[in-house]
Amino acid sequence: MIDLRSDTVTRPTPGMRAAIAAAEVGDEQMGEDPSVNELQERVAALLGQERAIFLPTATMANQIALKLHGRPGDVLIAEEHSHVVIYEFGGAAVHAGLLTVGLSGSGGRLTPEQVRAAASTVEDIVDQRPAVLVLENTHNVAGGRVWPLAEIDDVVAVARAARVGVHMDGARLFNAAVGLGVPPAEIGSRVDTVTVCLSKGLGCPLGACLAGPAELMEVAWREKFLFGGAMRQAGIVAAAALYALDNHVERLAVDHERARRLAEGWHAAGLPVELDRVETNFVQIDTSRLDMPRAEMLSALRAAGVALSPTFGPTHVRAVTHLDLDDADIDRAIEIVSETLVRHAAA
Ligand SMILES: Cc1ncc(COP(=O)(O)O)c(C=O)c1O
Repeated sequence: MIDLRSDTVTRPTPGMRAAIAAAEVGDEQMGEDPSVNELQERVAALLGQERAIFLPTATMANQIALKLHGRPGDVLIAEEHSHVVIYEFGGAAVHAGLLTVGLSGSGGRLTPEQVRAAASTVEDIVDQRPAVLVLENTHNVAGGRVWPLAEIDDVVAVARAARVGVHMDGARLFNAAVGLGVPPAEIGSRVDTVTVCLSKGLGCPLGACLAGPAELMEVAWREKFLFGGAMRQAGIVAAAALYALDNHVERLAVDHERARRLAEGWHAAGLPVELDRVETNFVQIDTSRLDMPRAEMLSALRAAGVALSPTFGPTHVRAVTHLDLDDADIDRAIEIVSETLVRHAAA
């Protein structure tokens, strides 16, 4: 099976397993795990932030960030299909007590005017405090789309003027950095707090970091305990992340190149793929332009040897490239998906 459902399906490589086996460990809760400590320091520096905290998941990192920025009754502003809005089980309300205002984005991005209007409408009319703006980069549901740096600056300026904190859900920030050809700190230092995930393109079995100013991260450290995310010999996992920082960041360019090749191959075969939306490791197919229901299409492809996954909304499916694929898998996926679907493509 050529598994293109997500970049989370990767299994640790032999090199990563060797790093895990050799990991130096200690009690993380006592601040004594050398691998965790090293990882936190490296991630903070990489993201241009003062301090980073190691956490089991990016969801936990986002949820802790929301609590750092807001108080119950405050407002979260985010693109309406952001992970924090549609995939975190209402955690913004449950954990931080925030009311979410979802805005309709383009390519997963919001304009300064939208943010200004959302921040001021909320405050002027109903006296609720807009506390945090979340930017997702790359944006998952939009298809791995990247925020240009100037656009980040524009919305951050509006947020700051409105005294709204900015959190970046950079679960795939390394993809964004490689996509733009800039160091990750160019992105991470532009916002107040930032999540990065280690179990997606970087190929770790689990883990994420939340980074930000030292003072806020002191609060985040307490929240890590409150969420049940304070671990013990977590260096076993942090060692995988250290290995990934050394070996799996620059190679994301290969995933991006393979996603482009997939997209071009499918497009050339007549499938409904919008090439200009392919910016990182995601390719989306618009199944509304095929005469086959999405679920049927996904099982036909699986039977033929390729696994794709539904993405948000009733019509699109996605392919996500990752570490566990090679060039031959991409060639086969181009062939199989084209052969299986092309007769269903509307003329
Ligand atoms: C944009 C984004 N943020 C956060 C997450 C959550 O990651 P985790 O599964 O580590 O909680 C995901 C997972 O797919 C994601 O795509």
